[in-house]
Amino acid sequence: MSDAGAENRIRIFDTTLRDGEQAPGCSMTLSEKLRVAKALTELNVDIIEAGFPAASPGDFEAVKAIAERNLGPTICGLARCNPEDIQKVHDAVKGADNHRIHVFVATSAIHREHKLKMAKEEIIKSAVGAIRMARELCDDVEFSPEDASRTELGYLAEVVAAAIEAGATTVNIPDTVGYTVPAEFDSLFRYLKQHVARIDEVILSVHCHNDLGMAVANSLAAVGAGARQIECTINGIGERAGNCSLEEAVMAVKTRAEFFDLHTNIDTTRLYPTSRLVSNITGMHPPRNKAIVGENAFAHEAGIHQHGMLQHASTYEIMRPEDVGLSKSNLVLGKHSGRHAFRDRVAELGFELDEFETNRAFQEFKKLADKKKDVYDGDIESIIMNAGSTSSGPWTLKSLEIQTHTDQPATSTVTLIGEDGSETAESAVGDGPIAAAVQALEQATGVNMVLRNFELHSASVGEDAQGEVTVTVEIDGNSFRGRGASVDIVEAGCRACLEVMNRTLRRRRRGELPGADTDASSSRATI
Ligand code: KIV
Ligand code: ZN
Repeated sequence: MSDAGAENRIRIFDTTLRDGEQAPGCSMTLSEKLRVAKALTELNVDIIEAGFPAASPGDFEAVKAIAERNLGPTICGLARCNPEDIQKVHDAVKGADNHRIHVFVATSAIHREHKLKMAKEEIIKSAVGAIRMARELCDDVEFSPEDASRTELGYLAEVVAAAIEAGATTVNIPDTVGYTVPAEFDSLFRYLKQHVARIDEVILSVHCHNDLGMAVANSLAAVGAGARQIECTINGIGERAGNCSLEEAVMAVKTRAEFFDLHTNIDTTRLYPTSRLVSNITGMHPPRNKAIVGENAFAHEAGIHQHGMLQHASTYEIMRPEDVGLSKSNLVLGKHSGRHAFRDRVAELGFELDEFETNRAFQEFKKLADKKKDVYDGDIESIIMNAGSTSSGPWTLKSLEIQTHTDQPATSTVTLIGEDGSETAESAVGDGPIAAAVQALEQATGVNMVLRNFELHSASVGEDAQGEVTVTVEIDGNSFRGRGASVDIVEAGCRACLEVMNRTLRRRRRGELPGADTDASSSRATI
């Protein structure tokens, strides 16, 4: 009989694309999900929970597309305990050599009475039926009793025992509402280990939410009590206060290896680039003081600390920046830097660009280096993340003129280049420069939008730092996100809006979105 809990490797189950993506403002397009899945593969996670296929046709297609890439990690999809959901997961994940079906049902009294209106026995029956069906389709089946941390211990043990009997190979214990505390969670895991027959034959997993800021601490407590899989997300994104942060849990196990006597297979030098990718895609940037990947995580300001660091780094540094993928050298590029230096820096930052992408990014770098003296890593990342976002047209921004004055409306004139090379100029007035620029863009492209959110983030340091803008806009009742970057923040906002407008026009042309104006670029007056 195997004893999975006795192993000293912790499996990392990444749910950025499922629980993370479910969070407001974190939804991703198919191509963004594919980029994240590729980055998670480079990070060497064991399992990627790619989505919830029954949630929408888009979710199904995304999970299927990721599975068909057969990237290497086990590809998992989430299902409720019903045959339709389970079949959908199987259809979506089966393209990957290694795939998993994850079924869940809530077990706490609160959920039983108010959400499911089901008795204890009915819940066990439904879980057992679902696990059996999943096992007929797939050898790798995970079961989660949702809200486990608020479930009566005796009943939870009964549910888990039934799940193992039915064939679950991983049993995950979620703290769905982020309610537990480390000592309590430690006891819960020890109780299950003691009271559930054959529990040593399955992998015990932990899934924590961060409502009280303890998701990582609770996950580590579970690991101390025998869990050998941690479910987590990049940057800790997820519902409400988020999920257990992958980078924090992984670096805690690595940095305190002598305490845990455990390890993961994560390539920790990929943590920072993966964090940047996810924050650039979602527009959710971790706070500066966020552990591991925050901008200040390795900055030592206090004189006494700097003095200590100069004597010996270990005085105040428990991890080395390069261990998490932050570059050691703070090399700054400028307008005299050549292609070679640029390409080396891009590679050091963890990006793999082909010849075409390198050329395009290098041209953008040269344009930027003309505008600002020093080009930092953040600027280069921004160039790469935004490369191609507006270049796929139909419209390209040629110029933007803004006039603002305190107490007076702003005026703007945008000049766009259409696919046939002709130029279109429109002017508009608005309460502020962004409102005026968006109005002019709407006139030029024929796409009307409501700007719901405008987030500005500085890509690097200094007064001439590039502003990265993420906008959330509504077009015909649908919500879209766009990104743009420039040393001029109004231009960055304008580029972010134009990116969404271009995407909308391309989708209208393909008949994927309704819209009378299917080819605005050819219908506008030209100058
Ligand atoms: O938080 C939760 O309970 C979940 C389950 C579906 C695992 O996300
Ligand atoms: Zn969750």
